[in-house]
Amino acid sequence: MKRNGTAIKTKSGFVAALDIGSSKICCLIAKPHVDRGAYGDSGPRIIGIGSHQSRGIRSGVVVDMEAAEQAIRAAVERAEQMAGDNIENVVINVSAGKPRSKLVAFESSIGGHGITEHDMRRLLDPSVLMREASDDREIVHKIPVGFTVDGNRGVRDPIGMFGEVLGANVHVVTAQTAPLRNLRSVVERCHLHVDAMVVSPFASALSCLVDDEKKMGAACIDIGGGTTGIAVFFDGELVHTEVIPVGGNHITNDIARGLQTPFAHAERMKNLYGTCLPSPSDDAEVIQVPLVGEDDETGTVQVARSMLVGIIRPRVEEIIEIARERLAKAGYDQLAGRIVLTGGTSQLTGITEMASRAFSQHVRTAQPKQIDGLAEAVSGPGFSSVAGLLQYAVATATAPMEANIDMSQPPNGWLGRIGHWLRENF
Ligand SMILES: Nc1ncnc2c1ncn2[C@@H]1O[C@H](COP(=O)(O)OP(=O)(O)OP(=O)(O)O)[C@@H](O)[C@H]1O
Ligand SMILES: [Mg+2]
Repeated sequence: MKRNGTAIKTKSGFVAALDIGSSKICCLIAKPHVDRGAYGDSGPRIIGIGSHQSRGIRSGVVVDMEAAEQAIRAAVERAEQMAGDNIENVVINVSAGKPRSKLVAFESSIGGHGITEHDMRRLLDPSVLMREASDDREIVHKIPVGFTVDGNRGVRDPIGMFGEVLGANVHVVTAQTAPLRNLRSVVERCHLHVDAMVVSPFASALSCLVDDEKKMGAACIDIGGGTTGIAVFFDGELVHTEVIPVGGNHITNDIARGLQTPFAHAERMKNLYGTCLPSPSDDAEVIQVPLVGEDDETGTVQVARSMLVGIIRPRVEEIIEIARERLAKAGYDQLAGRIVLTGGTSQLTGITEMASRAFSQHVRTAQPKQIDGLAEAVSGPGFSSVAGLLQYAVATATAPMEANIDMSQPPNGWLGRIGHWLRENF
């Protein structure tokens, strides 16, 4: 069956999100609004869930098209079976292509008259923004984060205001073209049309940060299997994003190499006994570790838990330190008043305390906000990104004047009336 199309919803009005992770691939299908009769419409309801171990993806990058295609197909088919419908269009995540954030400022003369929609359109002319793309990078998001009138910042809705010069700050996220093409291509090989790409940490932040955090300033750090993504929100908008190619799988590899044990066992040990907080009893606690390539019965050694902690801790420290440095380099270490950890690796015992110490501030661990129908099995912190993608898909599918929506626009901003106007026109 060939599936193609440009509408974000299926014929039956469902929307779909596909998180192509380094550890697992997850697909959610939802009804954007549920008719509750006398009680009116409510939010989305998930009617299809499919998850499959990831294949052919390393640190968010497609490294084996065939293997990735099989894994995506398996996850999507499971979700479709549960939903009882086939999907044609998906919103997917992007961790590949070294996503890069840039705040771009534009100005336009308005000659003292009241600012009109026409002025806004002229100011935010897409061809001006396209300059940010290059031969090897394409634009993934372009998000207006604020306006100025005659240099006065903090203007939320300039339409109707008087001034000489109208300015806009736009957060442009670009990523390398070739890895994005590979990602799109592997999804298309599964006969799915990519409606929108959302940088993975942006998606995670959409589902994990509460509105006040987004307004006051917060950084959501998603520590997954092969990547660590950072999304900084300020004044309700995404202002910065980073993807670092290191995650929990690196901890597992360190354990496997350090203790000469199979990867599967290293993963199990990490999840069952792993911690980055040493305790005085660690030397006395002994774990039985099978050796790689040896018989189950004879080829095991006893290892003190302190040794496991000694392997895990430096890698976690490294991940947190890189994230801290990136935030500081971008100038958001102070601005992001709150740090919210998510992603599968945020479940590692002691990681929140370690991050709190490194950032010298309160850190909380988050899992996606509850969506109707989100089964417990897919509601942990490893599913923040797919839940955020679904939120993005729902918001975009249910916005008015669907045909005019620029899919690289975020669906929920603080821009109010102007945000609504921008979504329809920009
Ligand atoms: N209880 C746990 N303790 C420690 N680590 C855990 C735990 N549960 C899962 N993990 C780790 O979380 C990682 C997977 O996280 P997640 O599902 O967020 O990754 P992903 O989205 O597939 O990958 P990425 O976002 O990096 O492309 C794996 O490294 C796994 O070992
Ligand atoms: Mg992920």
